[in-house]
Amino acid sequence: MTTKRAHRGRRVTLIVVGSVVGVAALGLGAILTVGGIFVPAHYLDPWSASYADEFTDLRMKVVSQAELAPSGHNMQPWTITLDPAEADVLYLYTDASRLTPAVDPLARQTMVSQGTFLQYLRVSAAHLGYRADFELFPEGDYDETDLATAMNSLPVAKITLTPDATASTPDYASLFLSDTNRSPYADTPLSADQQSILTGLAAESGAALQIFTDQRDRTRFGQLGAEGTLIETQYAAATAESDAVFSSTEQAKNDARSGFAVEGQGTSGFMKYFLQGLITVVPSLNDDAAGAKNAIALTDAAVAATPAYGVISTTGNSRAEQVEAGILYADISLRARSLGLVMQPLSQVLQEYPSMAAPYAAIHEEYAPGGQTIQMLVRIGTPTTEYPTSMRRDANTLVHTP
Ligand SMILES: Cc1cc2nc3c(=O)[nH]c(=O)nc-3n(C[C@H](O)[C@H](O)[C@H](O)COP(=O)(O)O)c2cc1C
Repeated sequence: MTTKRAHRGRRVTLIVVGSVVGVAALGLGAILTVGGIFVPAHYLDPWSASYADEFTDLRMKVVSQAELAPSGHNMQPWTITLDPAEADVLYLYTDASRLTPAVDPLARQTMVSQGTFLQYLRVSAAHLGYRADFELFPEGDYDETDLATAMNSLPVAKITLTPDATASTPDYASLFLSDTNRSPYADTPLSADQQSILTGLAAESGAALQIFTDQRDRTRFGQLGAEGTLIETQYAAATAESDAVFSSTEQAKNDARSGFAVEGQGTSGFMKYFLQGLITVVPSLNDDAAGAKNAIALTDAAVAATPAYGVISTTGNSRAEQVEAGILYADISLRARSLGLVMQPLSQVLQEYPSMAAPYAAIHEEYAPGGQTIQMLVRIGTPTTEYPTSMRRDANTLVHTP
């Protein structure tokens, strides 16, 4: 009698546990499916070294690798035209439909992002045995009173590719490594060699690079980074702008192929699908309050583990100097990866909207006392985790036929 009851009790327990496990498995499966576990990630296609092989035109081969460059908000604000008369010439334009006016009201970061594209293109060309020469603003400067029209009609750069038997680059493999690493870095100081290799890259540049490793400076940059993040999260227009370019599913990422996604917080693999599924099913998990809390926590953890900061500045603040700053940023970022280092820009305190005015003035007073413009503030260090690669556009969509 007792044995029979015990048996039945065990069977009921098994059924209950089995049902709970089954429902949980079904729920997990549903969340992963919503998160896109079965959707092929075409938005990552350009990261394949063989992607360039899809193009026969040399200019498209280099464009398809130049677009791996980092850009503000990952907007990839690039348009190119291929010169119909000269097979070795192409033009880079700013895509005025890809601006982020809340965080970048003067389109300064957008111009820095033109420079990163040019440097990536230069490295790609060198790998193929070509020198890439840039003529900045070959048809004249932007009319600042009508920027959108100017961007669409005036090239940022004329790019000429010339066969060059001496062209070579130590940084080709770095093109294919994730650009921006937002995690805490190892407690390993930059060696004197690493510092002088990176600062040496500025010798030929129209921009300057300073690297800071002192505890006092690192604490100060950490404070500025944290303050900037806090102010940005309280600026509704900036939050709305980021929300508008955030894709929360694989399908949305395949459609957008630019902007932000969960990878930007270092999430990859199984967790990526799980998180994407969760925030699609329960959007409040990723609302502005949660996003702000997350951004502040990420920055606090990051700046607490940063052995060095880099400051890229220019004497003036012309459009050409902004592009030069971007060329230098991409140059040091690619070389850093070749040296086993990674970087993350901390741009908030350099942004030109009213609520950021105080820390903007403070960083310039303290670190650009000669009246220079600081174009980039970046964390530099040895990675503790590999960061996933982020969305990139189909290279064909960059081409504009006038
Ligand atoms: C001008 C510029 C400003 C940037 N500012 C920031 C920033 O403030 N914080 C950050 O984490 N990443 C920043 N980034 C990195 C971009 O967010 C990143 O390049 C983009 O999301 C693509 O991701 P990936 O670099 O990992 O490929 C910046 C990049 C550029 C070129």
